[in-house]
Amino acid sequence: MTVHPAHSLAAGGAAGSVQRCAHCGHEIGEHESQQACARCGGLFELHHPAPAITGAGLRALLDARSASRRGVFASGVWRFRELVLPSAGDDALTYPEGNTPLLSRPTVTRWAGATSLHLKHEGHNPTGSFKDRGMTVGVTHARRIGATAVSCASTGNTGASLAAYAALAGLPAIVLTPRGQVALGKLTQLLAYGARTLLVKGDFDACLALAREASERLGVHLLNSVNPFRIEGQKTIILELLQQLSWEPPDWIVVPAGNLGNTAAFGKALREARDWGLIRRLPRLAAVQAAGAAPFAKSFAEGFAKRYTVQAQTVATAINIGNPASYDRAVIAIRETDGIVTAVSDGDILEAKAVIDASGVGCEPASAASVAGARKLIRDGVMAPGDSIVAVLTGHILKDPDAITRYHQGPEPSPAHANPPIEIEPRLDEIERALTPKRP
Ligand code: F0G
Repeated sequence: MTVHPAHSLAAGGAAGSVQRCAHCGHEIGEHESQQACARCGGLFELHHPAPAITGAGLRALLDARSASRRGVFASGVWRFRELVLPSAGDDALTYPEGNTPLLSRPTVTRWAGATSLHLKHEGHNPTGSFKDRGMTVGVTHARRIGATAVSCASTGNTGASLAAYAALAGLPAIVLTPRGQVALGKLTQLLAYGARTLLVKGDFDACLALAREASERLGVHLLNSVNPFRIEGQKTIILELLQQLSWEPPDWIVVPAGNLGNTAAFGKALREARDWGLIRRLPRLAAVQAAGAAPFAKSFAEGFAKRYTVQAQTVATAINIGNPASYDRAVIAIRETDGIVTAVSDGDILEAKAVIDASGVGCEPASAASVAGARKLIRDGVMAPGDSIVAVLTGHILKDPDAITRYHQGPEPSPAHANPPIEIEPRLDEIERALTPKRP
């Protein structure tokens, strides 16, 4: 594929990134576009030349940029550009994104049974999920190689992000979503940002298979996380949180796991952060799936001897995935970080969400799997209560308003943390009555 001339010089001397198949090692150039290795069908990973400076010098450079308010360094992705896409220079197509807060809330920490629990809230990205970090890189690349249309399969967040960044790039976006399984906040974003929205009569796994086929046959540029440029952007969740912790890694990083793009990205980010001297030791990764959509947890329980596919069924629609595409890359991430994979019930996810929401932080159901997972792993004795833990909240509370309504206003018996509204007549005594605590 040809390279857009206006962008081919943007490397600023930093040329030399390659895409390498994570399975067989076959290499293609940075500016080529193949969704999978033509030799073995494996997924590509980007490999960049080592930054000119590493260790304390690199930390100082990145820290100096974190005060930027304008230009590409105002982005919490492009501030790390030497580690993300060195050749992009100032060409990045940025909202800007990232710069998400690292929070700590005593009620959430206590509920999890932890002593040090931080929440990295990716719902604070422009379209309300971590997907914007990968999409800024993916769409920047798409534009540089002259893509004429972009597409993805999505449980909602990838599609919302794709639609917003495609609008920024002036490219048409096509999103394949499983009909009836996309949360309201996400579906409305797709329509509003102007994506051609296809409601597929099938699940996410069917949507992804179809999107991959359409990309091959119709030449539409695919921006699911099988695309290695997405992974490069998502690495910055890790880089940014390490920076927020003054480059002192926590003991654990916990992440909700669906299609496994993030798990793969986190492993790569940590490996590179160590190799380039940003950190001295690796935190352990904990990937948390919903019990009804846990093929990766099942494989982990058997030492990754076998890859499973399941018929997924969970209230956490974002991670309702039975055949995760980044399986191979995620296995490497878990092995390299001495990580762990677990699964939590829908009930535990909703309880964790209610506690996170009531702390004033709020997140969508899939995000709460990380905190529910931390509680489970502490209870199981895998994590020590004194361990320092960062749980990633992947999406915003308003992504899934129906889940909130069902929890707080659903039929009796109400769940433990339900906070139903109270209907009253327009009189003061009605308010008094409403303020009187109910007898148990
Ligand atoms: N959390 C949220 C809020 C998500 O939207 C997703 C994935 C995940 C967690 C899982 O991340 O796939 O990298 O393991 N959402 C995709 C989508 C599938 O289409 O929006 P993963």
